Amino acid sequence: MTRPEDEWGFQAGAPITPELTAMRLLGGGSAYEAYLAFDEITYAPVVVKVVRPGQAGDATSLRGLRREVEALATINHPGVVRGLRHHLEGERPHVVLEEVDGPRLSSLIRRQGPLPPQQYVALAMDLASVLHYLRHVGWVHLDIKPSNVIMGAPARLIDLSVARPVEAARPLTYEIGTDAYMPPEQCVPGGPQVPDFASDVWGLGATVYHAVTGYRPFDEGDPDAEDRIRRYPQLVDPPYEFPDRTPPQIVDLLVSTLDADPAARPAPHQISELLAPVMEALPRARLGGLRAR
Ligand SMILES: Nc1ncnc2c1ncn2[C@@H]1O[C@H](COP(=O)(O)OP(=O)(O)O)[C@@H](O)[C@H]1O
Ligand SMILES: [Mg+2]
Repeated sequence: MTRPEDEWGFQAGAPITPELTAMRLLGGGSAYEAYLAFDEITYAPVVVKVVRPGQAGDATSLRGLRREVEALATINHPGVVRGLRHHLEGERPHVVLEEVDGPRLSSLIRRQGPLPPQQYVALAMDLASVLHYLRHVGWVHLDIKPSNVIMGAPARLIDLSVARPVEAARPLTYEIGTDAYMPPEQCVPGGPQVPDFASDVWGLGATVYHAVTGYRPFDEGDPDAEDRIRRYPQLVDPPYEFPDRTPPQIVDLLVSTLDADPAARPAPHQISELLAPVMEALPRARLGGLRAR
């Protein structure tokens, strides 16, 4: 928990900077808060991630923000949030992002339960195209989960706060990501496997699994447990069974993305190839309006 004094508490209408007027608080991590704001420069709503008041001079927080800025500068894909500008000095170091319109996948699942195939197949293909691209530029996201996906057409990945070049991910000595969606190699830093491109394939798998079934693939661990297996049940458990209605190709695909062995997980282009015929077989009429392909 952050202390109240480490929150900006900007109300609607308050200036974050002379150009950025707060609209509402969206969320926040340990080092920063995320606000929806109106931007006088682009003359549009934007998202501002601003370092918490007590951390503007904190080297670790600034390093985190700088890494996110670097990620936004490197990653340019229609399925990933885009950065507009940043300001890393002064009292309110911040990054300005375009506002991605649409509900988060986590909110959609909470409201509606399992998504229909028309939505989850498109979601999986959209995420696969992002992961294919990330391989090309040599970066990993490391925190793919329903609250970091905004469900537009295409679905878009947000939150590059822990993304890094794959060479910087492989030697990580600490856990990174979100417990319930982390592959074994992110739960057990230092081996036998290390974080790599295939780690995001697991993230895709866990995210799409949640969309297909309405529940997470593994038990929720105890975040305070010293014992890694109690903290991360995915280290030993197989994913829960799928509902009977799930098409077998989807079950096989998702189970393969959640393989404990990163080398056994499919590459993103294989995911797209496996899904193309499933997409083709979906009733066309119900696809109309959702996306034009
Ligand atoms: N570009 C964006 N467009 C719309 N909403 C966003 C955007 N970036 C962040 N958000 C919202 O703010 C929340 C927190 O931002 P996020 O980047 O996920 O940071 P973190 O999860 O590390 O706090 C997100 O869950 C989402 O609701
Ligand atoms: Mg997030």
